[in-house]
Formats: sequence, structure tokens, C-alpha cells
Amino acid sequence: MVKVLFATCASLPAGDGDDDALIDVLADVGVAADWSVWGSGETADLVILRSTWDYTERLGEFTSWCSSVPALANPAAVVPWNTDKSYLVDLAAAGVPVVPTRVVAPGFSDWPEGEFVVKPTVGAGSRGALRVAAGDHSAASAHLDSLGVAALVQPYQSAVDSAGETALVFFGGQYSHAFTKGAMLTPDAEFDESGLYLVERLSGASPTAAQRRVAEDALDAAVRLLGLRRGELLYARVDLVTGHDGAPLLLELELVEPSLGFRQADAAAPQRFASAVRAALSARQAW
Ligand SMILES: Nc1ncnc2c1ncn2[C@@H]1O[C@H](COP(=O)(O)OP(=O)(O)O)[C@@H](O)[C@H]1O
Ligand SMILES: [Mg+2]
Repeated sequence: MVKVLFATCASLPAGDGDDDALIDVLADVGVAADWSVWGSGETADLVILRSTWDYTERLGEFTSWCSSVPALANPAAVVPWNTDKSYLVDLAAAGVPVVPTRVVAPGFSDWPEGEFVVKPTVGAGSRGALRVAAGDHSAASAHLDSLGVAALVQPYQSAVDSAGETALVFFGGQYSHAFTKGAMLTPDAEFDESGLYLVERLSGASPTAAQRRVAEDALDAAVRLLGLRRGELLYARVDLVTGHDGAPLLLELELVEPSLGFRQADAAAPQRFASAVRAALSARQAW
């Protein structure tokens, strides 16, 4: 049987549970799927990045491992660009409506008016993200110094507090489903047992027409910048928030290791994923 591996990290040897349904639906269509800790040297017809959430501390090692894998999804070329949230600046320049984003280095002190967020350019699971109250510039500077790396500065999008963010999920470049995530930078936020991510409050969602449009545009802009075709992206997640004027803004475009919200999706979502895996294997002539 054709074999695929789901790449994860040592502290989540079988993922975080969201991908559980995938093993059986892949077996239904002739694909043996199993978990493997990234970097272990195990091989397969296709290695699919999933819960590799410790890469943020070992980015160089992670990107070179990705390049060494003969068949990786998403393609290794995506990894250096998409693991650094500075890609938001590229997407804004390409005309995508993005949460206003500035990339700053430690020592920066020209903080914006109003409430804002300081978060590392390389980060996942909300780790290192600080919501700064208007005027609390000493807290922002202390946080940036403690990160000791480049960071993004963005105005806090207060619509997140009531509506959260909406994640639109695509398989093989085609829309599959959507879910919402409640605001993360709140006083009651807590990390999960692995310490890798803040616990998330998720539910299924039906995106608006405006959200669907921005998500499609963001995906097209990204593949153009990367020199890929949409079909070459086995999965993509477009995270949108609502700006002050009510229009959707891109918060993140996740092409490396997004949680795909299968537990919040309709029952056929894993089957759509399995079909996209078959298409990726077919493109590689594994079949
Ligand atoms: N500019 C912002 N406005 C409002 N909330 C934000 C903003 N930036 C981040 N957040 C909150 O912090 C969380 C984590 O930030 P995000 O940019 O999604 O990074 P990651 O998920 O990779 O850690 C988001 O899910 C959101 O709740
Ligand atoms: Mg996020």
C-alpha cells in the first residue's frame, strides 16, 4: 500500500487529536497513514507536515529537514517564506487586505497609538504574543527585548473579542470548510499540557461572501509569490479577522502546519482531504 507520514513533534507523537479521522479515511482509499516525529529519517511516498509545532525554536534545522524530504506537503519551498510572518507585508504589497503590520527589531520604540500586539515573526500557538494596552510602551519594549528577535507590531483588532477569527480551509487549492477561533489574547488564556499552544475555543462557521473573496485572493497572491500552482498546496488555512470598518483582514495565511479544524467541520471534510492526498500522490506518480 502507498504510505504517507504525518509529521509531528516529540511531545505530540500522534498529533493533537484533530487529525484522528484522517487515518481511517485514507486507509479507505488505499493510503496507509502513520505519525512520525519530524527529523526521524523515516520515509514515505509523501510526508505531510502536521503538528510540528516545536519548529519555532529549531527553525534552521526544520527548514533543512523539510528540504531533505523527497516528497513533502506542502512543498519545502513554502516553509522559509511562510514560517516568518513578515510574509504578511509581501501579501499587503500584492494588494491583499492584511491587518496593518510592521516588522521591528529589538530596540524599536516608535510604538503606535491605541491598543496593539507585539508577536515574534516566527511563532505558533500564540506563544510570545503580547496584547499591549494603549500607552503601555514600557511593557511593549520590555517584551520585545525579552523576545530578542524580530517581531510584528499590529493594531489590536478589537472585533476579535466578540467575533474571534474565521479560518477558511482549502485542500488542493479548493475551499473545504471554515471554523472560528475565539480571541486568544484574553486574561483567561491558558496553555495546553504540552505548552505548545494556548487552548483554543473553536466552532464551525459559514464564512461570508466577503471572507470567501479575501481568502481566495490571499491564496492566489501567495502562490503567485511562491511560483506555485494552487493545486500544489495540499492544505492551506486563511485566518481572517474583521477590521474597524467591518471588512475582513488577513491575520495569518498558514501553509506549513495549520490545525485544520476537522472536529469543527462536516463529516465529509476528512474525505475531501483524503482525495487531495490521492491527487498529490498521483501528481508524484506514486500511483
Ligand atoms: N492584531 C491582532 N488583533 C487581535 N488579536 C490578535 C492580533 N494578533 C494576534 N491576535 C490574537 O493572538 C492569536 C495568535 O496570533 P497569530 O498571529 O494568529 O499567531 P499564531 O497563531 O501563529 O501564534 C490570534 O489567534 C488572535 O487571537
Ligand atoms: Mg494564529
